[in-house]
Amino acid sequence: MPLLLHESISLPDALHQYFGFQEYRPLQREAIEASLNGADVLVVMPTGAGKSLCFQLPAALSDGLTLVVSPLVALMRDQVEALQARPEFSKIGVAALSSLQSSVEQSMILDDLEAGQLRLLYVSPERFRSAAFRNVLDRIRLARFVVDEAHCISEWGHDFRPDYLQLKSIVESLGRPPLVAVTATATLRVQESIIRNLGMRQPQTFIGGFNRPNLHYAVHRCKNDAQRQEMLARALPKLCAKGGSGLIYAATRKQCEEVAEVAARALAPQGIRAAAYHAGLGADARLELQRAWQSGEIAVLAATNAFGMGIDKADVRFVVHYVHPESLESYYQEAGRAGRDGRPSRCVILYHFADRRLREWFIDNDSLTAADIQTALQLICRIASEDTAIINLDQWKEKLNWTSVKTRLAIGELERAGLVERAGETAEQWILRVLQQKFSPGVLSQIETDLNRQREERLRRLQEMVNYCKTTSCRRRMTLAYFGDAQENATKSTFCCDNCSNPPPPPVVHQPLSKVPMPSSIAGHDIYSVLEGLDALWPTVGKARLIKLLRGSKAKDVERFRNDECPLFGIFETASSAAVEAFLLELIENGLMHQGGEDEYFVCSITEKGRAAWQDKTPVNVLLPGKAHQVKTAAASYEDPDLSEGGKVLLEALRKWRWEQARTENIAAYMVLSNRSLHELACVQPYNENALTQIHGIGGVKLEKYGKALIELIKSTFQ
Ligand SMILES: Nc1ncnc2c1ncn2[C@@H]1O[C@H](COP(=O)(O)OP(=O)(O)OP(=O)(O)O)[C@@H](O)[C@H]1O
Ligand SMILES: [Mg+2]
Ligand SMILES: [Zn+2]
Repeated sequence: MPLLLHESISLPDALHQYFGFQEYRPLQREAIEASLNGADVLVVMPTGAGKSLCFQLPAALSDGLTLVVSPLVALMRDQVEALQARPEFSKIGVAALSSLQSSVEQSMILDDLEAGQLRLLYVSPERFRSAAFRNVLDRIRLARFVVDEAHCISEWGHDFRPDYLQLKSIVESLGRPPLVAVTATATLRVQESIIRNLGMRQPQTFIGGFNRPNLHYAVHRCKNDAQRQEMLARALPKLCAKGGSGLIYAATRKQCEEVAEVAARALAPQGIRAAAYHAGLGADARLELQRAWQSGEIAVLAATNAFGMGIDKADVRFVVHYVHPESLESYYQEAGRAGRDGRPSRCVILYHFADRRLREWFIDNDSLTAADIQTALQLICRIASEDTAIINLDQWKEKLNWTSVKTRLAIGELERAGLVERAGETAEQWILRVLQQKFSPGVLSQIETDLNRQREERLRRLQEMVNYCKTTSCRRRMTLAYFGDAQENATKSTFCCDNCSNPPPPPVVHQPLSKVPMPSSIAGHDIYSVLEGLDALWPTVGKARLIKLLRGSKAKDVERFRNDECPLFGIFETASSAAVEAFLLELIENGLMHQGGEDEYFVCSITEKGRAAWQDKTPVNVLLPGKAHQVKTAAASYEDPDLSEGGKVLLEALRKWRWEQARTENIAAYMVLSNRSLHELACVQPYNENALTQIHGIGGVKLEKYGKALIELIKSTFQ
């Protein structure tokens, strides 16, 4: 039975009257109509698409209360304030009940609720544990029950909150009003679990595309934290030049403070303010920060993910991730704060390969094991008197050293398995009723299977996030494909992503060369000798370790080279590590050495050019640590007083032949024959194959390939 209050008003008029908007955005009208008709409705639309309107307008048009469950206090407050600022809306009664309000405020809202003066009320899922609240709810008429950020109910979602799992039975106990579930980030699998976990009945689903055409995506790679700070400081003034405001997401509270400082310093010359927002700040401080950011007094907020979900500020011109989040869903959600007014805005990630480890650490740290669940139950039973345990979160933290997320998840699992039940909750304490003291057979192993699956799922999502950071193709297309958006091919915009604007060069493919033996000694003043040693080094190591090795460091990670008496060890003992690093960088820049990427642990190894250099003594222009530039010209290295006149003529002829041969085969000259080989040929002037094999670098393959031609060339030169 539809619950229309103002039946005379048309939907377009209602939009104008309550919101002052001219037109519905895609799918809004359809979703609103379905909800007004009493259907269960699932809305999945991109961030900033206007999902809130899909339940706010029905609330204004229906008799009875529209109850909205929302995961974050900041988010509730934000929406309520925005609505109260609209004159028509303020008349219908909008409020939020949260633990941040004083008890006087809370009871005033309950009074209004009971008196039927509220049409729209926002609450957190924990609120249903309050007996006072439940009592009032039982006495009033519910028009619909809304779950905002509904992905939180899915164990396959990126922000699973066990508290949300209670909602299904709460809805039943409230007489099963029609449901509305909305989210921006739901893969097909997550959509299915929202429907299942909420017990939606033949829901009408409204799935919009995920594309945000006015957002530009980019990822900048950083070598270390110093570079990351530098990049941020350099980018911020440019990002802020367009006006509006910005967000910088950091991974931890500490990092959040650091980033805010960098931002404040970088923006001070322009008179732009920046601040840090995280859960470690007091509730008042957080509200004040949010207000100052919303009003534009503070333009840039460095925040942890405690900030953001659902926050709606029109002119956010950029969202920078100082560290990438755990999943592409979180990223889409957080980056989605940008450009809600439809104007071009930027989403940037500062990427360092080690961030992945940080994220894995988070996953390990708050992932539960079956043993954790057992420990939690034991502790609860020990604390309990009669059947009731009062859990003090601080004590719990002291005893188990768990984060509050982990504690919440553990208790959530126990609830899910029917071992405990939450009877009440304040910010510091939970009251639990123990239903069973022991796990019945099979329950624990089922929990274990579930937990392992959840952990694997988180790691899989992390992998996708890392793939996004590392991809060399279109980031927008990758994101859309991830969410299964069919628009995948419709992204031809010029304002797309860094990879589309600036296609990266194809990666250099480095072929590891066959091993060569280590010479017994290495002359540190002779570049060829050093290159030979580097070529023979085994196992290969990264640059930092190589520097230690060359300088003869006592560090543990080069101990084995010291013990094995590697002749490279300590050849640049007296040089500074900066000088040795400069030397290695020159080798890399000159293509004599290759440094692998993060997947190859940055290992340094000789290139073909590097091997040819020491074997053939080709000219090398590299500064040896502590030495003047070693410049070898081609002429100098080829000049050989020992070569007879005939030998010199032959050498010239050989070079010419080699050059032509290389051209025919389309390979580098040294790959045909090395300079050393040519030189020996010119000296020895072999007339038969047997003599040829004595020449350096001429073995089976080369003999077969070039033997005949060489002998002919030598003969013809001296005929
Ligand atoms: N039909 C409309 N015309 C103009 N503006 C609209 C319309 N519908 C919604 N908006 C505005 O769009 C903005 C974003 O809406 P809303 O906060 O509901 O986004 P959302 O879909 O919930 O996003 P998120 O997933 O980030 O929470 C709001 O400022 C809202 O007032
Ligand atoms: Mg929202
Ligand atoms: Zn692109």
